[in-house]
Amino acid sequence: MGNEVSANFELFNNAAENNQQFIADELKWLLVPGARVLEIGSGSGQHAVHFVNQLEEVNWQPADKEPYFGPLERNLKGISLAGLEKPIYLDVARFDVTGRFDAVFCANVMHIMSADLIPSMMAGVANLLDDGGLFILYGPYKYKGAFTTESNAEFDEWLKSRDVLSGIRDIELVQDKARTRLLELIEDLPMPANNRLLVFRKSSKNDHVSDSGF
Ligand SMILES: C[S@@+](CC[C@H](N)C(=O)[O-])C[C@H]1O[C@@H](n2cnc3c(N)ncnc32)[C@H](O)[C@@H]1O
Repeated sequence: MGNEVSANFELFNNAAENNQQFIADELKWLLVPGARVLEIGSGSGQHAVHFVNQLEEVNWQPADKEPYFGPLERNLKGISLAGLEKPIYLDVARFDVTGRFDAVFCANVMHIMSADLIPSMMAGVANLLDDGGLFILYGPYKYKGAFTTESNAEFDEWLKSRDVLSGIRDIELVQDKARTRLLELIEDLPMPANNRLLVFRKSSKNDHVSDSGF
């Protein structure tokens, strides 16, 4: 296998194939050359390979939990690509990854995992970032309790019919939980298929205090 994603990837994801270039175009201005990035919930690994091919000198750390971890390891095993790290096991429920990253990226995981895990996700991400580090979240969101489109409402119903704990989250809830870990929403970008790219920046305690007017 070469450096390109193969449609023979286990758990090949058409959505990832369709959205990867749109996301890459945003990551190009969000990430500095040489950025070290952790990806939560890498799935098949398609995004990891595409972004490493597209982003200058990026160092990309894919991660996932079962049942995706095995396929992710197998899919990336034969790919030799500078900047693409060997996948690590990461379940947001036990966020035991250590190290320092310039950014954490996570696509289409927030509506799959239980909402109870959002605080663990924010705490884990914040621990890995220095001040100024970015948390970049791709996926669909509700605003003030309302779906942005009928198709997102139908998608939410479908998600819940498979797993009652899944579902499209309110951006206000995500923003609140992020803020408790000094992760401030700095961008909310429209993306294809009624998705958003949310970008949070880790602020220093001092920034946070002055923002509150003290
Ligand atoms: C719809 S797939 C998205 C995969 C990939 N990010 C993409 O966009 O193609 C959802 C992913 O969320 C991951 N996931 C769900 N719950 C998780 C958790 N508690 N911790 C880490 N990853 C989780 C799954 O393992 C799966 O890889």
